[in-house]
Amino acid sequence: MAVQNLFDLHGEVAIVTGGAQGLGKEMGLALAEAGASVVVADMNLEKARDVAQEIEKLGVQSLAVQVDVTQKDQVEAMVQKTIDVFGKIDILVASAGVGQWVKSEEMSLEDWNRVISINLTGLFLCCQAVGREMIKRRKGSIITISSMSGIVANVPQPQSHYNASKGAVIMLTKSLAMEWAPYNVRVNTIAPGYMQTKLVEDLLVQYPEYAKLWRELTPMKRLGRPEEIKGPCVFLASNASSYMTGSVLVMDGGYTMV
Ligand SMILES: NC(=O)c1ccc[n+]([C@@H]2O[C@H](COP(=O)([O-])OP(=O)(O)OC[C@H]3O[C@@H](n4cnc5c(N)ncnc54)[C@H](O)[C@@H]3O)[C@@H](O)[C@H]2O)c1
Repeated sequence: MAVQNLFDLHGEVAIVTGGAQGLGKEMGLALAEAGASVVVADMNLEKARDVAQEIEKLGVQSLAVQVDVTQKDQVEAMVQKTIDVFGKIDILVASAGVGQWVKSEEMSLEDWNRVISINLTGLFLCCQAVGREMIKRRKGSIITISSMSGIVANVPQPQSHYNASKGAVIMLTKSLAMEWAPYNVRVNTIAPGYMQTKLVEDLLVQYPEYAKLWRELTPMKRLGRPEEIKGPCVFLASNASSYMTGSVLVMDGGYTMV
């Protein structure tokens, strides 16, 4: 296959959770630009609809679905809706996630449970429900979104629940990759560093000076632009990465190499 065709996703069907904004939105657009039909799945239906409309302008089909990834019945309904409309699922990007800064000694059980249930349990539920369909067809590529926070503890903001959830997403990714490799279902994770999305901007409102420190600690001396995740996403979704599974694709401006 010629190298430019390795990235072609025409005829493929993708679900992107957390697709209404930020990195999820960029990845949905990227998959659509490569030719895939895209289900934009998010808690925020209004914004998901806006993204689905933007995607349709690219000449592919798109559908907005409201889902809270922590709710098993809603996740299963998202999968069923996709099968009803598109007949199959080839790609899952599990990007729905939340962050919070709170000191461990002051963290409530509610804070802990909320972050773990969205970032880890919700991501598992999505992988499980979609994985079952992919196993039946002996085909699929799942991309989880972890973080460099699953590899290093960020400085200086306190976010032990977030870091623990992302470390667990990396191990979950490898575990699913091992179990589903015999079914030709690949599972890889993208571990981004600091990306300038709403999640990060909302957190920085309280401590704007942290952005300066983050830049200094990053060898490339800047935060990532949200659209910089498009290439890694299409690479992992497509045949361009056909022999990759269980891998952690780090894109962090060099933060974790030093
Ligand atoms: N921005 C960064 O610097 C950065 C770095 C590393 C990893 N990440 C990870 O990337 C992913 C996307 O982050 P982002 O920066 O685009 O965030 P974002 O806040 O811009 O977008 C997250 C999306 O997830 C949705 N969402 C939240 N909870 C949900 C739930 N329970 N069910 C369904 N949808 C839900 C939100 O509505 C939102 O549209 C997250 O998993 C985040 O942890 C982000």
